Amino acid sequence: TPIAILISGRGSNMNALIEACARPDYPARIALVLSNNPDAPGLETARAAGLEAIAIDHRLFPKDRDGHEEAIDKALLDAGVEVICLAGYMRVLTPYLVGRWQGRMLNIHPSLLPAYPGLDTHARALAAGDAEHGCTVHLVTDGVDEGPVLAQARVKVHEGDTEQSLAHRVLEQEHQLYPAALAAFLDRR
Ligand code: GRF
Repeated sequence: TPIAILISGRGSNMNALIEACARPDYPARIALVLSNNPDAPGLETARAAGLEAIAIDHRLFPKDRDGHEEAIDKALLDAGVEVICLAGYMRVLTPYLVGRWQGRMLNIHPSLLPAYPGLDTHARALAAGDAEHGCTVHLVTDGVDEGPVLAQARVKVHEGDTEQSLAHRVLEQEHQLYPAALAAFLDRR
């Protein structure tokens, strides 16, 4: 299945998906990497891996979110994309794009949803004194971080954990979870 990976930053989850897609038995191939941020370090990583990687800068569409997303949609369709993986894509998508890709757009979020949608998930889990934290792969719907859960991975919160140490441990799980959850989703499809 041809997929797109949407990023805004470093793209470590994208890397995990690139590695998975390099396995001959993996059910996805990456047709396009797309970023809203032309300076995303992940774009260079993707190109170095021989992938088509483009930026569609949201700042070129001031006060025109739909225009930005129409441009994204066109690039996705031109590349023959069938499934989208958001991987650290830091802009909230409008109902326009979400609706066009309903049921075919996945996201990874660094918490055990429905706990802690939004930002600063690790700090919030620590502040709450949670014994467990983790990450979730889910389908994207209009509500931010609200769609049906496809898979989760858990980590124990350690005494003395900082936001950074906890984020690091969760990120290791994200890199395992996303390729596995995508493969399971595609196999069911
Ligand atoms: C990850 O923690 C992801 O769950 C969140 O943003 C971060 C992106 O990291 N949505 P990376 O760009 O994949 O390294």
